[in-house]
Amino acid sequence: MDLKFLPSFLLLSAIIHILTITTIASDLCASEPFHFDVTLIPIYSKCSPIKLPNTTDSLFNTVMVMASTDSQRLSYLSSLLAKKRSTFAPVASGQALNIGNYVVRAKLGTPGQLMFMVLDTSNDKAWVPCTGCTGCSAVTFSPKASTTFRSLDCSVPQCSQVRGFSCPGTISDPCSFNHSYAGSSFSATLVQDSLRLGSDVIPNYAFGCVNNVNGSSIPSQGLLGLGRGPVSLFSQVGALYSGVFSYCLPSFRSHFFSGSLKLGPKGQPKRIRTTPLLRNPRRPSLYYVNLTGISVGRVLVRLPSELLSFNPYTGAGTIIDSGTVITRFVGPVYNAIRDEFRKQVRGPFTSLGAFDTCFEKTYETVAPIITFQFSGLDLVLPLENSLIHSSSTSLACLATAASPNNVNSVLNVIANLQQQNLRILFDTVNNKVGIARELCN
Ligand SMILES: *[C@@H]1O[C@H](CO)[C@@H](O)[C@H](O)[C@H]1NC(C)=O
Ligand SMILES: *[C@@H]1O[C@H](CO)[C@@H](O)[C@H](O)[C@H]1NC(C)=O
Ligand SMILES: *[C@@H]1O[C@H](CO)[C@@H](O)[C@H](O)[C@H]1NC(C)=O
Ligand SMILES: *[C@@H]1O[C@H](CO)[C@@H](O)[C@H](O)[C@H]1NC(C)=O
Repeated sequence: MDLKFLPSFLLLSAIIHILTITTIASDLCASEPFHFDVTLIPIYSKCSPIKLPNTTDSLFNTVMVMASTDSQRLSYLSSLLAKKRSTFAPVASGQALNIGNYVVRAKLGTPGQLMFMVLDTSNDKAWVPCTGCTGCSAVTFSPKASTTFRSLDCSVPQCSQVRGFSCPGTISDPCSFNHSYAGSSFSATLVQDSLRLGSDVIPNYAFGCVNNVNGSSIPSQGLLGLGRGPVSLFSQVGALYSGVFSYCLPSFRSHFFSGSLKLGPKGQPKRIRTTPLLRNPRRPSLYYVNLTGISVGRVLVRLPSELLSFNPYTGAGTIIDSGTVITRFVGPVYNAIRDEFRKQVRGPFTSLGAFDTCFEKTYETVAPIITFQFSGLDLVLPLENSLIHSSSTSLACLATAASPNNVNSVLNVIANLQQQNLRILFDTVNNKVGIARELCN
């Protein structure tokens, strides 16, 4: 660990963690004791229950592997920005979406069956592979083993809210739908059962039971959508969570640590600075915020306001997303930030993977602080969230990028690397997003 890189409170916490580790070294990944919060496990961490190919020990390489699907994610998010103004599509079609970066422990059915579901804040519905599924991985949910399981037929209102549903026969037919995801596709039927998250039990939760998968990029134990659309968790639980949740993503450096998801107003930070949560009625799943400016050191970067401002018709603006790895700005915005950053740090600059502004680590001490200015809230990025170290070279890189070339995006996406050790609170009823420093690990 490069200690000088860390702010002192992080250092202190790192020491505390190291002390804690030595006392519980027998099982670093033991599941947590009873807890109100839902554990959020980075899918590439040492404690990940999901076995992925290409997991490496190097932080930088892990980020590169993870970020390699960012362009698919960006394409997917951009695809949510419908071209046709009149079409109201409540549920994302999910043409291409990456495998997800964090999983939550969930229990489905009675008695509860443990599933590690990918968390996706830009998606509404949930689905899991069911027993008997063709093309699914080994861990599946068994409807037969649950006493509270029920299939939903075409007569239920949720059926018509699921995009791509098909009910060609009578209303007593099962509600089934096809979905594509990151180049794979699957077919599922709409079902309901109890969902247990942390200490909460949500009865009769409607989700997709996946029966058939074509392709290999479907999250192996399912996906839990925390978007705001009609079949989302929040619209299904009614008053239970008052439309409030927050998450804290652990540092990418801390392989053994997990973050947390807090559902509902209980236990949320009492004093937290907030910015308005904007609602795009045509894309209710996305969490838009009003990014008004970006400063690099003391310099407020000059940016044409139309590249930042929220436009529900074109979908332009800025979202906070749980599934993208590196924060991406539309080209001209990124270029302006990068040019100002380069002015303040000594070159030469080289490219590494997705990053085009890498420089000798020794100049890191002069690297300017980057601040995202939202309406009513300045987010001063800790160094850990603005720079990333290459493990195999002596370089540090500015850890943001432009939207991939092949994605014609109007969207700026605040992503995982820039959200490390921050609590991000979403209040979907009072339309606020709060951000506060917190050690999530
Ligand atoms: C994993 O690594 C292999 C070999 O380096 C590469 O061909 C493959 O595309 C990688 N897979 C992913 C999902 O990145
Ligand atoms: C899903 O796709 C399969 C295979 O392409 C097709 O047979 C089926 O009718 C589709 N189902 C729905 C609900 O569209
Ligand atoms: C599976 O996907 C491939 C590639 O998209 C397609 O060619 C093939 O027809 C699909 N198979 C089924 C059974 O849908
Ligand atoms: C975003 O903030 C700017 C500057 O304060 C303001 O003019 C604009 O109306 C805000 N946009 C929205 C959608 O709230």
